[in-house]
Amino acid sequence: MNILVTGGAGYIGSHTCVELLQAGHEVTVFDNLSNSKEESLRRVQEISGRSLFFSRGDLLKPADIEAVFQSQHFDAVIHFAALKAVGESVRQPLRYYQNNITGTINLCQVMAKFSCKNIVFSSSATVYGSPTIMPITEEFPLQALNPYGNTKIIMEQIFRDLVISDPTWNTIFLRYFNPIGAHPSGLIGEDPNGIPNNLVPYIAQVAVGKLPFLNVYGADYETPDGTGIRDYIHIMDLAKGHLKALEKLSNNPGAVAYNLGTGRGYSVFEVLRAFEKAAERPIPYHISPRRPGDSAICYANPTLANTELKWKAERTIDDMCVDTWNWQSHNPNGYD
Ligand code: NAD
Ligand code: UD1
Repeated sequence: MNILVTGGAGYIGSHTCVELLQAGHEVTVFDNLSNSKEESLRRVQEISGRSLFFSRGDLLKPADIEAVFQSQHFDAVIHFAALKAVGESVRQPLRYYQNNITGTINLCQVMAKFSCKNIVFSSSATVYGSPTIMPITEEFPLQALNPYGNTKIIMEQIFRDLVISDPTWNTIFLRYFNPIGAHPSGLIGEDPNGIPNNLVPYIAQVAVGKLPFLNVYGADYETPDGTGIRDYIHIMDLAKGHLKALEKLSNNPGAVAYNLGTGRGYSVFEVLRAFEKAAERPIPYHISPRRPGDSAICYANPTLANTELKWKAERTIDDMCVDTWNWQSHNPNGYD
């Protein structure tokens, strides 16, 4: 298939591009590089031994999107491009609504104009808010705790309405749990801007000596060791989920959501220990107050994706930490 990948230079997009190219698909990446570097795409091509086409453009500029659709016909779009920092979205809600929602509407309008109505969309477990019953199935009520989460819920709704208006659209929303890890080559990985917000990129920077210690946000949760539990998923397993979703689009699924997680949760301390083993060094930490907005436990029921997409996460928490460390230790400053 000929696939347009928005946000393909970013963390999840770049790893998915490797899988797409290795599976024989043609790939065009559309990205404004607002949170990524073109170097990631050079390395994607090095790993896969195949080339892709890069179009630098902005979803907020419909002419940029039109230009890429005019140049070729796409069978489907994988839509990663979005702003994703929770705290920033609280401070700059209009920027988040505009970039994520207006950008998606612009994309869909151009897709409709060029009769490309197949899309796989990056949603997030954040759409479940703070559920108290585990594991989380796709039927759980949706609830956003911040503007970023709201953009995901609104975009899912836009796709549902689009399918009602025109059933020739096929839209799959993949609700990712906590993607971590890197390609086993160590050539591509997560390259956060500034101080990382998320646990594993933070631990990786402590391990490599860029940050002095990890703040463990709360050791008084109702969990076996008191720290928060999450469903971490290896980025290459997540990338494979997108290929399975592409296959599913041809069955005319309408608008459907799938959880992409392992179905198993790990605490902050369990991740810390797995990372210490991978990096063969102790990682200093301090217990800090809970982070506002965090829930104690969050893990997926991935049965729907297992059965309907024929997809299952295979890599372990040790694989995730080994591959993160391989990337971080060989690229202490990311792509710079
Ligand atoms: P990322 O920031 O690494 O990648 C997003 C890419 O989109 C970047 O390369 C950025 O330059 C590009 N982009 C942003 N706005 C754009 C615009 N207006 N026009 C063109 N390009 C634009 O993020 P990621 O971690 O790879 O996340 C990909 C998607 O997955 C996002 O939609 C994110 O919300 C979602 N998601 C991520 C996580 C996670 O933990 N990483 C979890 C759940 C969902
Ligand atoms: C965060 C986002 C969520 C987003 C998800 C994936 C918040 C409030 N939530 O969720 O919207 O979908 O990332 O991108 O930002 N932790 C520490 N120290 C740290 C960082 C994290 O102890 O420096 C703990 C957290 O309290 C949590 C666990 O580690 O228990 C995982 O945190 P994180 O990686 O930020 O992911 P989420 O909290 O799931």
